[in-house]
Amino acid sequence: IKIIGVLTSGGDSPGMNAAIRSVVRTCAYHEIECIGIYRGFEGLIEGDFKSLSARSVNHIINKGGTMLKSARSKEFRTDAGQQKAHDNLVNAGIDALVIIGGDGSFTGGLVFNKAFNFPIIGIPGTIDNDIFGTNFTLGFDTALNTVVEVIDKIRDTASSHKRLFFVEVMGRDVGHIALNAGVGAGAEEILIPEEDLGLDRLLESLRRSKKSGKSSSIVVVAEGDKIGKNVFELKDYVEENMEEYEVRVSVLGHMQRGGSPSCFDRVLASRMGVKAVETLLEGKTNFMVGILDNKITLTPLEKAVKGKTEINKELLRVSDIMTT
Ligand code: F6P
Repeated sequence: IKIIGVLTSGGDSPGMNAAIRSVVRTCAYHEIECIGIYRGFEGLIEGDFKSLSARSVNHIINKGGTMLKSARSKEFRTDAGQQKAHDNLVNAGIDALVIIGGDGSFTGGLVFNKAFNFPIIGIPGTIDNDIFGTNFTLGFDTALNTVVEVIDKIRDTASSHKRLFFVEVMGRDVGHIALNAGVGAGAEEILIPEEDLGLDRLLESLRRSKKSGKSSSIVVVAEGDKIGKNVFELKDYVEENMEEYEVRVSVLGHMQRGGSPSCFDRVLASRMGVKAVETLLEGKTNFMVGILDNKITLTPLEKAVKGKTEINKELLRVSDIMTT
């Protein structure tokens, strides 16, 4: 392997820049060339490439977003799109690809690998922490810190007005952000897709918390929660059924994806980048780099894509106890 390409794809996440930097510098360390591919698979199809030296990634470790930009490419799902992408890679002399992204990006990478037998390695970059084969994805820790900081602020105003807030957080169809940030911010209730609390138990829990003398209540709701109502409908429902509450809603949205990565995400990204490049140099392909029990690991990419992450049961129990 003489030239490695690197791209970021799907929803950006804090730590992606730190991972790009690590991939570029590991290539430089092993004296091979690294080419940055802009706008994910879109840029692969359009040949939007730029050679990256160790110095071209100075001072990006602390930056949110991704310097290579990102996209969700429809054209890459077609045979013609993939053929164009492959032609561009061959013309640029790129021998292998590091894909930084979530499971959608890995699925695209796997299809591409099957079609052209092109070596690829994945680095999990998403705030959702929903990838099998790693305890942490890049950006999850930073997003949690962002959410907790914001909920702390919401708490100030909630308790000044004795209000109940429904705070919707991201996470697609999993509740890892909601559960962790909810516990971290001392939420009164946490609604996640993995556990259907039910509307009756929600009301019961809110009544109990009011009765116990709390001056405010925060309910963290995962965007993929299956209680059957969105945060605005929940507000109406609670106001109809519980006169004692004045309710407000806060949907945190994309602010959760931005900001300077935490130290944890920067260190993790640095470790993953080194492993990704060195795995390719060992002649291996179709793996995802992960972290399990604080060890950098490799999981077959196919397993990473097919497997499902599980909600942390012990943390769920902690959350139940903390909300008493
Ligand atoms: O996967 C990351 C994520 O931020 C999810 O939490 C969210 O559901 C989704 O992406 C939002 O996607 P978009 O930025 O395309 O609206």
